[in-house]
Amino acid sequence: MAKENNEIVGFAGIVKIIDEIDIMNIVVRKDKRGLKIGSALLEKILEISKKLNAKTITLEVNEKNLPALNLYKKYGFYQIGFRKKYYNENDAILLEKTFN
Ligand SMILES: CC(C)(COP(=O)(O)OP(=O)(O)OC[C@H]1O[C@@H](n2cnc3c(N)ncnc32)[C@H](O)[C@@H]1OP(=O)(O)O)[C@@H](O)C(=O)NCCC(=O)NCCS
Repeated sequence: MAKENNEIVGFAGIVKIIDEIDIMNIVVRKDKRGLKIGSALLEKILEISKKLNAKTITLEVNEKNLPALNLYKKYGFYQIGFRKKYYNENDAILLEKTFN
């Protein structure tokens, strides 16, 4: 959870399955976007994933969601596949990041 002046401005949810972390969501309040809160949440996920000795982190992103795709690519995530019509009309891009 990301807080500013005791208000929630963003949150992220992850699930751990054996040695894999799945990002369920990262959401930043609309009026607080573009201020690196999403980056801070993702950095926290990376830190937790390393502590938990995860080998990979995966997630699905809507193919039209450029802010999210850019955010994950900036942190070293790459496309490993896609799920057709995952979001009704749109496909999901399946992203992954691996730890050595
Ligand atoms: C995706 C989301 C979490 C990004 O959070 P944010 O705090 O606004 O992002 P940041 O300020 O940390 O930006 C980090 C990077 O994301 C990318 N990015 C963010 N907003 C962007 C935009 N409007 N257009 C294009 N790229 C964007 C950029 O690469 C940016 O890095 P840069 O500033 O060095 O160019 C936010 O837009 C959001 O809550 N979206 C709705 C929910 C969602 O789609 N979540 C993702 C599904 S898992």
